Amino acid sequence: MREKVLQLAKEKNAVILAHYYQTPDIQEIADFKGDSLALAQKATEVDADIILFAGVHFMAETAKILNPNTKVLLPDLEAGCSLAESCPASDFAKFKAKYPDHMVISYINCSAEIKTLSDLICTSGNAVQLVESLPKDQKIIFAPDKNLGRYINEVTGRDMVLWDGTCEVHDILSAEKIMKMKVENPDATLIAHPECPQPVLMLADFVGSTTAMLKYTKNSDAQKFIVATETGILHQMKKDSPEKEFLIVPADETCSCNDCAYMKLNTMEKIYLALKNEQPEIILPDDIMENAKAPIVKMLEMSK
Ligand code: 13P
Ligand code: SF4
Repeated sequence: MREKVLQLAKEKNAVILAHYYQTPDIQEIADFKGDSLALAQKATEVDADIILFAGVHFMAETAKILNPNTKVLLPDLEAGCSLAESCPASDFAKFKAKYPDHMVISYINCSAEIKTLSDLICTSGNAVQLVESLPKDQKIIFAPDKNLGRYINEVTGRDMVLWDGTCEVHDILSAEKIMKMKVENPDATLIAHPECPQPVLMLADFVGSTTAMLKYTKNSDAQKFIVATETGILHQMKKDSPEKEFLIVPADETCSCNDCAYMKLNTMEKIYLALKNEQPEIILPDDIMENAKAPIVKMLEMSK
């Protein structure tokens, strides 16, 4: 299947972009893999007839918004995101109307409609930097992740108004479980994604985006890490640092992993079928694409 996918991608002049939360086999066939920020940046450089996005819906939408004339395929249209779903556009528009003097910064993990209601998009990789670059008295609404928003407020000393959304994959991670892991592994360094709840972040030795965590584990002298995020990241961490040990914080007592069920809907077979049939394709109304593009482009310019 792997060879068939690569052959088909070549024949169709398709580029495969994959998030680090994809399964290792998919990460290994990608032309480019990265976190949300790197993938959005890469999407501006693509010169292909087709972008096959091995990730979730909002990521493929972002690629489409940045490449309106390119066919963008998502292997499974059901690959959504609990965080994006926690922020319906009609409810958010009412919420926004209560704060007419605030600007809206939205985490890229949101629908294209939410992006049209936003002044600036951010990812976990640049959120702190972008907020810090704004005037101190700038009033801000931050959506949709309240954990990331609270973390940015803490680091920057801001008082952003937060939308009450969470990622079900990160929000479920428990400080109690992590304390137990720390007691059992006193020599381990705890690293956590800022989508985790506050009690988890308070225990962490390092908080950062997917790419920041990868860099940290690569450059750190520590030999053992407790990793509070999605399981897919372990593939690249182990590749970068084969001599180090990585312990994922499991979602619950019954499993040994912490998978995003949406990310894991993509399979090699679905990628093959998507390339073969050139379906399912991301289609967005022109006005949504146009209005959603401005805050994304602003983010990309501010992140250079
Ligand atoms: P980053 O890729 O920005 O680290 O975000 C993680 C995530 O939850 C992607 O859906
Ligand atoms: Fe959405 Fe969370 Fe899955 Fe990322 S890990 S795609 S934020 S549900």
